[in-house]
Amino acid sequence: MKPPKVVFVCQECGAQAPKWMGRCTECGAWNSLVEERAETSATPAGANRFSQFSTASTARLYAEVEMSHGVRLSTGIGEFDRVLGGGVVPGSLILLGGEPGIGKSTLLLQAAAHFAREVGPVLYASAEESEHQVKSRGDRLGVGDSPLYLLSETCIERILEEVARLSPALVVVDSVQTVWSNKFQSAPGSIGQVREAATQFLFAAKNQNVPAVLVGHVTKDGSLAGPKVLEHVVDTVLYFEGERHHSHRVVRAVKNRFGAVSELGVFEMTGTGLRPVPNPSKLFLSERASGKPGSAVVCCIEGSRPILVEVQALVSTSTYGNPRRMAIGIDQNRLALLLAVLEKRAGLSLAGDDVYVNIAGGMTIDEPAADLSVVAAVASSVRNRGLAESTAVFGEVGLSGEIRGIPQAALRIREAAQMGFSRVVLPAGNLDPADNTQGEGRCELVGVRTVGEALDQLIA
Ligand code: TYD
Ligand code: MG
Repeated sequence: MKPPKVVFVCQECGAQAPKWMGRCTECGAWNSLVEERAETSATPAGANRFSQFSTASTARLYAEVEMSHGVRLSTGIGEFDRVLGGGVVPGSLILLGGEPGIGKSTLLLQAAAHFAREVGPVLYASAEESEHQVKSRGDRLGVGDSPLYLLSETCIERILEEVARLSPALVVVDSVQTVWSNKFQSAPGSIGQVREAATQFLFAAKNQNVPAVLVGHVTKDGSLAGPKVLEHVVDTVLYFEGERHHSHRVVRAVKNRFGAVSELGVFEMTGTGLRPVPNPSKLFLSERASGKPGSAVVCCIEGSRPILVEVQALVSTSTYGNPRRMAIGIDQNRLALLLAVLEKRAGLSLAGDDVYVNIAGGMTIDEPAADLSVVAAVASSVRNRGLAESTAVFGEVGLSGEIRGIPQAALRIREAAQMGFSRVVLPAGNLDPADNTQGEGRCELVGVRTVGEALDQLIA
């Protein structure tokens, strides 16, 4: 009998090598090769073990493909449905990633309980916790009577047996790094096992039309543990983010075959589980000291949703030779660029000053529409004068000090008006009637062309 074939697999990129090496030749990662036993195939030569899943199909004309129109199954949690693009699509595979303790299991247990009550039986397979532990959390969350099945199991094949037996409407697997298949000898969490788990649940989802949610761990640098393979296999990738010191949590879609990406759902962690926050602007502005120097409100867009966020700046005389520039929540390079524009085009002198910029509430903004608010907050702090009352602002700042138009102005203005802002300073280019920014009623719109003009309008 031939000895089983052994391969060494890079845990970073999935590349295989016949011998152990200190460094992966594909991706260059050090000490990432782990011994895995090549699979022994039980299927006859020539046949793939997945061929049983394949249905003999012939190509069909586009027009003849019938659609089950827009079927979405609601999880009963509005904010979660929103990131999914309106609910769970039958037969889809969803990956939810996030740091330990952020609330992945909590969210999924809440969603599973709702789903079981409204749609049909749910199988919650927990490889990390026992049924008792899951249930004691459920008690806290107020999970009532519903056809919710708990299974404490780490073997993929066993979980799939239960799926076949119960034929649930949804499967939750917590987590994909702790389950293992008996086809491989390697430890749970190794690349072979993770890929196998994703593939097996993918086939289960597609063939039995059972949507599955996999929980994924993230590595120290914040990316999903395991290789990119996992993200390619699944239909939807969601990230659960949040700061340890803030109670709000954000679920963000980074890939979605059935909806918009960078769609955002906002939650608040309370003593009785996660509470959806349907109006995040209110949350982010709740503690704002309006009229104080160094604070500006920007309307940004996350996915399809406008959110008002406070940008804070503090400029103070530097006591050391080398002034500090610190940005939290916006890109450091962007801040350097904006400060240069302020010096050169608006005549502000910042050479001997420390500049600190922070986005309140732990938010991160990466769209250029926030430029003007950063500029305004810094200038307001330099002059030690507050911005005009109940004024929101957005616009991109160019290197020659011009204010450039940005997309979806109407949406931003509407959100500002709804949150009680009576004046919006925006790029003159966005005042174009074709852009549908007119007629927003109560909100006064002030179009500006240059940084100087904007500061005149903003700082009284
Ligand atoms: P959990 O869902 O176990 O995190 P994950 O599965 O992502 O590792 O969430 C655990 C954290 O949430 C824990 O620090 C306690 C907190 N929590 C609450 O504040 N309130 C609650 O009702 C629950 C269930 C958890
Ligand atoms: Mg957990």
